[in-house]
Amino acid sequence: MRLVMLGPPGSGKGTQSAMLQEHFGIPQVSTGDMFRHAAAAGTTMGKEAESYMNSGKLVPDELVIGMVQERLKQPDARRGFLLDGFPRTKRQAEMLSELLTEMRAELDRVILITLTCEEIISRLGGRRTCNSCGAVFHVQNRPPANDNTCDFCGGELRQRADDTEETVRQRMRVYEESTAPLIEYYRERGLVTEVDGAAPLQKVFDRIIRAL
Ligand code: AP5
Ligand code: MG
Repeated sequence: MRLVMLGPPGSGKGTQSAMLQEHFGIPQVSTGDMFRHAAAAGTTMGKEAESYMNSGKLVPDELVIGMVQERLKQPDARRGFLLDGFPRTKRQAEMLSELLTEMRAELDRVILITLTCEEIISRLGGRRTCNSCGAVFHVQNRPPANDNTCDFCGGELRQRADDTEETVRQRMRVYEESTAPLIEYYRERGLVTEVDGAAPLQKVFDRIIRAL
């Protein structure tokens, strides 16, 4: 199973990918998480990526593409993978297509999660992310059992630096300009399944499973 999760910031790509990863036993490959890890580790690439992320801009394709190529060649991705937050530009989509040809593999489906602007702002305003394992919570929709503590690893929960309202609006603009055109790109290839993200977690998950 090779899937792409497409959708605006905060639409639930990460949350649903984590659930699908468990369900199908294939790795979730999140370029956003990879950049956040690199930034936390203080690598040169991480520092460069962080400056783009914190202002709500896309990290340049050159930095993204090499990182994804390397990740998809790992043994655990041989049986399949879930791409969360990649591709995000036409160039990234074309590179993915070339890489898949090289791997003699094909994409099975592109899941497009839709959500209104107001709902996105509310979801990202209340999101809390574990500083250690990256698990995602929401103060109202998916609260941790203990305030500011991760249910899974006991790590500290924090608000992401790019979740301020101003940066979220910038990310939504970037999504419309650079990433939304991929919907048409993949529709032309008959790959897109649209799933309404405005429902409780489990319901959205059931919709995705049914669509697959
Ligand atoms: P990335 O980390 O990919 O962020 P994003 O696409 O903006 O999406 P988010 O992670 O914010 O949201 P999500 O859809 O995963 O929602 P989540 O499940 O967390 O990228 C960040 C930055 O990295 C980019 O801006 C860019 O700079 C850079 N970058 C990354 N990839 C790149 C690439 N390929 N090229 C260039 N640059 C790149 O859910 C959100 C909240 O809602 C959570 O609190 C969750 O608990 C809650 N929630 C989820 N589902 C539901 C539900 N059904 N009901 C109620 N609440 C829900
Ligand atoms: Mg995410």
